[in-house]
Amino acid sequence: MTDEVVTLPERIPHHVAIIMDGNGRWAKARGLPRIAGHRAGVENLRRILRASSEFGIKILTIYAFSTENWGRPEAEVRGLMNILETVIDRELDQLHANGVQLRHIGEIEGLSPMLQRKVRKAVDLTRNNAQLILNIAFNYGGRQEIIRAIQQIVRDGIPADEIDDTLIDYYLYTAGQPDPDLVVRTAGEMRLSNFLLWQASYAEYYSTPVYWPDFDREELLKAIASFTQRERRFGLVPQP
Ligand code: FPP
Repeated sequence: MTDEVVTLPERIPHHVAIIMDGNGRWAKARGLPRIAGHRAGVENLRRILRASSEFGIKILTIYAFSTENWGRPEAEVRGLMNILETVIDRELDQLHANGVQLRHIGEIEGLSPMLQRKVRKAVDLTRNNAQLILNIAFNYGGRQEIIRAIQQIVRDGIPADEIDDTLIDYYLYTAGQPDPDLVVRTAGEMRLSNFLLWQASYAEYYSTPVYWPDFDREELLKAIASFTQRERRFGLVPQP
């Protein structure tokens, strides 16, 4: 049986953001350590990247490590840092060859100097790629991002009455990128968990009970199909 879908949904979201939840539960259900779930999560990321590119999604933002995740057991934190390093070491050439532009969003200074170097190198190498932008939110927190923006605005001496949406956008990690159209959360929770608080204001939200390692191409299609059916009003009334 082929998993090819002949017709794609008529409206493909330009920017999809994903809260990749449920790795731990996926591993537990199999009697495996949590880190095995995160590794399976990386495998899945590869599939979802391929599918996103195929469907014509132009920006994918993934929540890989939140500012709150430092509170997890030390071994798991170390494991997640190692995963980011391994992804860069092993996948960078392939990502580059596939036209993926890697970007980091979050507080990079909180990572080890070696990891900072690797992330910066990967971002630099892929900066002109245009098939798909992959924003990796790593050591990212939405409130931290907004606080940082306000601090920078104050430091830059911007007068209060010049502060508007466009200016705030400019000071966020996602400066220059359109807001997400669709936020997907796997593993059943119904919260934003400090992810893209500013940018997701008008995004459509899709939650599925499927754990992230099992969220495959077909599941992404379901999320897009749900998005396609919704009427986005941006606070306005329905069009006649
Ligand atoms: C949530 O599952 C997932 C995370 C905190 C990390 C997600 C990370 C990856 C998929 C790999 C990292 C990818 C890159 C590119 C660095 P959970 O552990 O909270 O699951 P649970 O709620 O079932 O315990």
